[in-house]
Amino acid sequence: MPPAAEPRDGTIILGIETSCDETAASVVEWRDGAPRVRSNVVSTQHEVHERYAGVVPELASRAHLERIVPVVREALRLAGCRPEDVHAVAVGNRPGLIGSLLVGNAAAKAYAWSLGIPVIGVDHVAAHLAAGLIDAPPVRWPAFGLVVSGGHTHLFRMESPRDMAILGRTIDDAIGEAFDKAATILDLGYPGGPLLDRRSSSGDANAVRFPMPRLTARSVRGPRHGATATPAAHPGPGPSAGSDAAADTAADARTLDFSFSGMKTALLYAVRGVPAVPGRAPPPAPVPLSEQRISDLCASFQHAAVAQVLDVLERAHDRLTGADDSPATLLVGGGVSANRHLRRELARFGEARGLEVRLPELAYCLDNAAMIAALAHWRHAAGERDPLTLAPQPQSTLGRG
Ligand code: KG4
Ligand code: ZN
Repeated sequence: MPPAAEPRDGTIILGIETSCDETAASVVEWRDGAPRVRSNVVSTQHEVHERYAGVVPELASRAHLERIVPVVREALRLAGCRPEDVHAVAVGNRPGLIGSLLVGNAAAKAYAWSLGIPVIGVDHVAAHLAAGLIDAPPVRWPAFGLVVSGGHTHLFRMESPRDMAILGRTIDDAIGEAFDKAATILDLGYPGGPLLDRRSSSGDANAVRFPMPRLTARSVRGPRHGATATPAAHPGPGPSAGSDAAADTAADARTLDFSFSGMKTALLYAVRGVPAVPGRAPPPAPVPLSEQRISDLCASFQHAAVAQVLDVLERAHDRLTGADDSPATLLVGGGVSANRHLRRELARFGEARGLEVRLPELAYCLDNAAMIAALAHWRHAAGERDPLTLAPQPQSTLGRG
């Protein structure tokens, strides 16, 4: 990908985000080397979905439809910006719930067409990594990019905000999804991640041990595909195969992937008891669920989930360090980057390894449109535009996603 020109001071982008259950719009201006947020409006639909303990897609699309125009108007008003001051409209057009994406995409195209300005479709996962660049000094590239959200757990090597190659990803649940399911098992309420985070502060993180996955190429893809399973988007971190023996070694090497479903099952068993197996001695009854026990399970689960993220990061850093072009920065994004324990551990990791860690401000961790407009500034400066036939897509286009 050719290096892009630096965005120009005074460029104003209106961002729109409707991929899941947040209707969001934001006005972001480029000034003094960084995207600067002039307004950031987020209308969450938590009250719509709360009683279903999860997002109901049809209800989400309808709520977006009702809210999108008032939310955009409010973003322009708060920014003190007239529609004709805007240079481009950016919209998260992938991945997400298709009905929800459709609303934001239709709105973005209508604004762009009526104002005679370009529309720029943005990948929501990549946009999460631009959140740490908002109102912040330029970073040193290349960087690691870690997305920890409700739908994704991805590790990238990034050459710029527009250019990234996948190093690893979850093979089952996303980390946020695991937090939400754990909160449901423990009956904490919705949305679960932040509640589990809060509850963990009164628990003992060493009370219960959760399994740490040891994913190898063989376990991720099976023995026949073992040698090629380690993400090969960027040369360097993965083993290569030259013979059957080499292929076997490669298949046994640990990947940079994540897995959270084993922890979730372990929590379920800790709460409800291990299922009995016919012909074997009955398993012990589970420890009764006192208030303290619930807090201990929260703290232990959170501790294990965060430990797994750090385990993968340490391995990635070990493998990619040493070369002239090894990453100097770690960009983090996604809803779980609001988790207090994860933030502390990432900061500690950065200090220990000499990596600059960019954690987004809390306002930009969860879904928002400022990150969409921020990333679009780099795309806009590179001359990237989308046609008015731009369509929403349910999947991310970033590597295996
Ligand atoms: O990025 P996001 O807003 O939406 C997606 O793109 O998926 O992430 C939402 C996820 C949810 O799973 C939510 O429970 C989790 O982020 N989350 C947290 C915290 N705040 C939000 N998980 C753990 N601790 C938190 N403090
Ligand atoms: Zn998100």
